[in-house]
Amino acid sequence: MARCCDGWVMTHGFFNLFLSSFVLLSAGQTVDAAGKPHILQILTTHVAWSDVGWRSDDFRTPTLDRLRKEGVELFRFYTQPRTLSAGVALDTGKYPYTLGVRASPGTSYHGQMNFSLPLEYKLVQEYLQDQGYATKLVGKWLLGFCDWAHTPLSRGFESHYGTLATAGDHFNHTVNRAGGYDFRSDKEVEWDAQGKYLTTLLNQRAVDIVRNHSDSNDPRPLFISLSHGALHAPLQAPDKYVNMCSHISDSDRRLRCAMMAAVDEGVQEILDVMSDVGYDDNLLVVFTPVNGGGGNYGSWTYPLRGKKATLYEGGIRVPAFFHSKTLLPNSSFVYRGLMHQTDMLPTLLKAAKVATADLPTDIDGVNNWNRIVNKKPSARKVIVHDVDVAYGWGAVRDGKWKLIYFKHNASELCTGWLLFPREEKKPKKVECKEWELYDTNQDPGEENDLSELKLFRLNKMKRIYADAEARAVPHLIVVNTTRTYPENFGGVWTPYGC
Ligand SMILES: *[C@@H]1O[C@H](CO)[C@@H](O)[C@H](O)[C@H]1NC(C)=O
Ligand SMILES: *[C@@H]1O[C@H](CO)[C@@H](O)[C@H](O)[C@H]1NC(C)=O
Ligand SMILES: *[C@@H]1O[C@H](CO)[C@@H](O)[C@H](O)[C@H]1NC(C)=O
Ligand SMILES: *[C@@H]1O[C@H](CO)[C@@H](O)[C@H](O)[C@H]1NC(C)=O
Ligand SMILES: *[C@@H]1O[C@H](CO)[C@@H](O)[C@H](O)[C@H]1NC(C)=O
Ligand SMILES: *[C@@H]1O[C@H](CO)[C@@H](O)[C@H](O)[C@H]1NC(C)=O
Repeated sequence: MARCCDGWVMTHGFFNLFLSSFVLLSAGQTVDAAGKPHILQILTTHVAWSDVGWRSDDFRTPTLDRLRKEGVELFRFYTQPRTLSAGVALDTGKYPYTLGVRASPGTSYHGQMNFSLPLEYKLVQEYLQDQGYATKLVGKWLLGFCDWAHTPLSRGFESHYGTLATAGDHFNHTVNRAGGYDFRSDKEVEWDAQGKYLTTLLNQRAVDIVRNHSDSNDPRPLFISLSHGALHAPLQAPDKYVNMCSHISDSDRRLRCAMMAAVDEGVQEILDVMSDVGYDDNLLVVFTPVNGGGGNYGSWTYPLRGKKATLYEGGIRVPAFFHSKTLLPNSSFVYRGLMHQTDMLPTLLKAAKVATADLPTDIDGVNNWNRIVNKKPSARKVIVHDVDVAYGWGAVRDGKWKLIYFKHNASELCTGWLLFPREEKKPKKVECKEWELYDTNQDPGEENDLSELKLFRLNKMKRIYADAEARAVPHLIVVNTTRTYPENFGGVWTPYGC
């Protein structure tokens, strides 16, 4: 075998001739990929707790509803409050604030800023590649693109179809506010995408990937990360989906419903092709928004408090599930154990049959796969949601207890409950304290601050916070620099030089 291949030059014919389950890696070793499940990871953005059909019956997500019901709902799944830190947490399994990436005010990321995740961190798709997976990114890359070495093809994905910068128009693919075209197929600019609806393009590409993988008899298990731009603003959808949501009178909510319906339809199309080619008996589907609700504009975090970019539950607790016909406990299991975005990396590796002793140890994420399969309590007890020493905010959790810290009174992050028309829950004026303590089991909506009643608990949580703070590192320096601007590259977002 050693004589054959130099990196990835082997052909499908080679697979057919020599391999059944053994897969040759670029490093020259082989790995036995037999029996490893295909993994379809579906990411969405700005999807709140009540922006899915199974929580709010005005939405039209029949496929996701069914998968949730037949699968394992991750009832206490926590994300980072903003997209950039969420991407870092998911991909590295490390707390972003320990890498200089956080979500506090002034750290909002736009394509015009020169952020790129340093290359020293190993990413989930790189670990999966080591396990013999064919790794495909369909959609949004979240980790920056200062040069090609920082982009998906050099960071563990063997193909990428989608965007490099940040959110944009869902039809013309120009970046919000900044302008400039952002759509690529691997390194080539994909002009064909112009005028076509982003969600539909991504769904179709995922279908094609599955079909081609099977047609070419590629023996490797597939990892598809389907990283949607939906439901990020601008709220846009083709009439077909808007019509499915015509029962909703609020126009923003109607459009969100339509965008989610397009995501949902694609999930069914991908599952259909998985079933056609016989991959569905050994398939794990993961659904998780990368962050919580967009706030107003028709996004319903209710009954949770707050929204995206805050540390209240509405910004970080999202609807999520695993589904598999064969790998998980039978139907309708609601897993109530804690999980954090960083746990996804070791949990997926375990699902991919990596020996426990071989899971990475230099991460913050914990493997919960066996716990979920065996319906056991979570291995995750404490979560550091975010800590920013310079700005002065953060939140930590120990089981049901959650502590939030605000250095600044009347911080923009101290927010109330959002309007939820049907329950007449009005946003109310709130006064924020320096320290707030909530029992998120009894009080998931964070209405009753217990910091003055539960002093022993408060002090215990402050010690957890102090320990978390000790691991904080300064922000990576990221600036809005004209070097990144698409004007320098014929109007297309392009690696600009680190
Ligand atoms: C970047 O700077 C330009 C020029 O000052 C400004 O127009 C633009 O709004 C800035 N973009 C962001 C995302 O801050
Ligand atoms: C793309 O659509 C946005 C509205 O979302 C508009 O402002 C922009 O001018 C359009 N760009 C192009 C190149 O058509
Ligand atoms: C699938 O295969 C066809 C035919 O070989 C090719 O034209 C197409 O680009 C492939 N698509 C993907 C997504 O790999
Ligand atoms: C789940 O339960 C249904 C109905 O009891 C049964 O038909 C099915 O085989 C079970 N599936 C698994 C994976 O155990
Ligand atoms: C916050 O500021 C307001 C006035 O701006 C004041 O009434 C309130 O007492 C302050 N709260 C705290 C906890 O300092
Ligand atoms: C972004 O630009 C600033 C200012 O030039 C620089 O200090 C920083 O290192 C750059 N960051 C990256 C990731 O290139």
